[in-house]
Amino acid sequence: MKKLFTFLVLLSVLITMVWLTAPRDVRGAESMGNTETCKACHQDRYTNYSKSIHANKAVLKSPANAQGCESCHGSGTAHIQKGGGKETGMLAFSNGKVEAASKSSKCLACHANSRSLSFWDMSKHKAAGISCDRCHTVHSGKKMNLKASQPDLCISCHRDVRSQIMKQSHHPLREGKMKCTDCHDQHGGFGQKMIKDSSTNDLCFKCHAEKRGPFLREHPPVVENCGTCHTVHGSNHGKLLITRAPQLCQSCHDASGHPGSIYTNQNTFQGNAPTNRMFARSCLNCHSEIHGSTGPSTRGNVLVR
Ligand code: HEC
Ligand code: HEC
Ligand code: HEC
Ligand code: HEC
Ligand code: HEC
Ligand code: HEC
Ligand code: HEC
Ligand code: HEC
Ligand code: HEC
Ligand code: HEC
Repeated sequence: MKKLFTFLVLLSVLITMVWLTAPRDVRGAESMGNTETCKACHQDRYTNYSKSIHANKAVLKSPANAQGCESCHGSGTAHIQKGGGKETGMLAFSNGKVEAASKSSKCLACHANSRSLSFWDMSKHKAAGISCDRCHTVHSGKKMNLKASQPDLCISCHRDVRSQIMKQSHHPLREGKMKCTDCHDQHGGFGQKMIKDSSTNDLCFKCHAEKRGPFLREHPPVVENCGTCHTVHGSNHGKLLITRAPQLCQSCHDASGHPGSIYTNQNTFQGNAPTNRMFARSCLNCHSEIHGSTGPSTRGNVLVR
């Protein structure tokens, strides 16, 4: 009898010790860190999560090496005790009542130091209450965990930009040759309108380097801002122009420098100008070096080749 008692005491001590030293995720209701526990009821979520970088044990700081599902959704203890269900203590990203900041804080716990998020605090998206999960779903299995690829992701909210990129002249976004994020810091930065550079012109020069010059004769509005004549997302006029020449040019220039008479072989600037009036035809036929001229001749002085 005494032997049996000692045995039972030792057995219970042993069980308690095993219990206490066990990984916290097999301890049952007290803390449910175990992704497998969630899997039982959320098979689909489990499956697509498993394909993502977050489920990768080989990635040092991944949720797989932290609290698994609970890294983002918070402790599942109460949820599981109640047998699952809505509003049982889980952080649900799709719940509109949950503040954007608390959703993003789950991600920032690991990503605050990611390079591209250094300026999240300056982001117009953060200011507008757009949380990470509005663009990312970690359950898609897609690259970058994006909810959709660009430009669809962005134009699902930015309807005005959507109609602009549908215009005849546009940057090749809808053709998939460029992304909105080639020009914009979606996570925030120092540039106006979240552009990836300190000024519009510096942004344009990244891809249109030949427009930087140096030129012997500069055209002041070009140096000032490419956006004086171009609209970047799209236009119904060729070459992304805000309006077509000659109206574009005549919004700043009058005709004082040109003779009022018809150009002929006898009456031309250089002796070879076509017979035509300068009005009602494109100024660009003659002033083709509109972004600045490199020609050393005096003709270069007026932005002609
Ligand atoms: C016993 C089954 C069961 C288990 C185990 C379970 N869930 Fe659930 N869970 C549910 C049900 C049922 C719902 C409500 C229906 C739905 O949204 O799919 C739910 C809803 C949720 C929601 C949305 C809550 C809301 O307020 O809308 C999240 C997030 C969630 N579960 C995460 C988890 C995580 C993480 C785990 C593991 C720690 C887990 N669940 C374990 C059954 C379960
Ligand atoms: C890295 C963060 C992260 C991890 C880890 C994660 N989830 Fe999610 N989960 C999300 C985000 C973000 C959403 C919202 C996705 C969307 O809008 O499509 C979501 C959505 C859900 C939902 C729907 C309710 C809601 O929150 O909108 C359920 C249920 C869910 N996850 C379960 C799980 C389970 C189960 C696991 C583990 C197998 C898991 N999640 C792991 C971030 C995570
Ligand atoms: C427990 C830490 C942890 C949490 C929480 C976490 N992540 Fe991650 N995430 C990582 C790690 C580690 C990587 C891989 C290395 C890296 O890119 O920093 C990663 C990668 C990513 C990537 C890049 C994916 C790719 O294809 O390269 C995105 C996007 C991302 N996480 C978004 C999120 C979002 C959104 C949330 C919140 C819903 C979140 N993460 C929560 C640790 C975490
Ligand atoms: C407005 C949409 C949007 C929001 C909001 C957003 N992201 Fe992103 N994120 C993107 C896009 C788009 C990319 C991919 C950029 C690319 O392919 O050039 C990306 C890339 C990433 C990457 C991987 C690339 C890298 O540079 O490390 C991580 C990590 C990430 N996001 C985390 C987050 C976190 C965390 C939040 C919330 C604090 C967040 N994102 C909010 C759109 C968004
Ligand atoms: C969930 C909706 C949503 C998505 C998706 C989204 N945005 Fe936004 N974005 C907003 C809101 C809201 C604002 C702030 C209000 C505004 O200026 O329109 C904003 C602001 C901006 C701004 C700054 C505008 C300004 O006036 O300074 C830029 C640039 C921008 N978003 C680009 C993007 C890009 C690029 C993507 C895709 C990677 C994207 N957005 C995806 C909602 C969204
Ligand atoms: C070639 C570079 C470039 C690309 C590509 C680009 N943007 Fe822009 N975006 C700009 C510049 C430059 C501005 C600032 C215009 C200004 O100052 O008026 C801007 C402004 C914006 C604004 C502020 C409001 C507005 O219309 O002026 C939003 C929102 C925006 N872009 C969203 C987007 C989205 C969404 C995409 C992808 C569909 C995109 N951009 C693609 C360069 C670009
Ligand atoms: C990330 C690279 C990139 C940046 C930054 C960029 N562009 Fe472009 N741009 C392109 C590409 C690619 C094309 C298409 C070239 C082609 O079709 O041959 C293009 C075409 C154009 C065109 C001709 C459009 C047409 O209808 O033929 C104009 C005008 C233009 N860009 C102006 C600008 C201006 C102004 C800026 C700065 C606000 C800018 N670009 C910034 C890549 C860029
Ligand atoms: C004074 C108005 C004006 C300004 C300012 C301007 N452009 Fe242009 N741009 C034009 C006109 C006009 C055309 C069309 C030329 C043609 O059809 O021959 C054009 C065409 C273009 C093209 C497409 C054809 C080509 O030459 O490659 C690009 C790219 C371009 N501009 C980039 C820029 C950049 C970058 C800036 C700022 C540094 C800028 N533009 C500033 C008037 C302007
Ligand atoms: C936003 C106003 C603006 C627009 C639009 C504009 N220009 Fe100019 N342009 C100027 C300014 C300012 C000068 C410098 C005038 C000066 O030096 O006296 C200039 C100089 C010139 C010159 C050289 C004049 C000289 O005296 O050396 C020519 C030629 C010219 N522009 C042609 C054009 C053409 C062609 C267009 C249309 C494609 C155009 N400009 C659009 C503002 C503009
Ligand atoms: C047939 C060729 C031709 C056409 C078309 C033409 N120009 Fe000129 N333009 C010239 C020449 C050549 C000069 C230099 C005149 C001189 O040195 O006396 C000049 C001079 C200028 C000047 C500098 C003198 C001044 O007026 O201050 C400006 C500005 C100018 N043109 C703008 C325009 C605009 C705007 C248009 C379109 C409405 C246009 N040009 C159409 C050939 C042309």
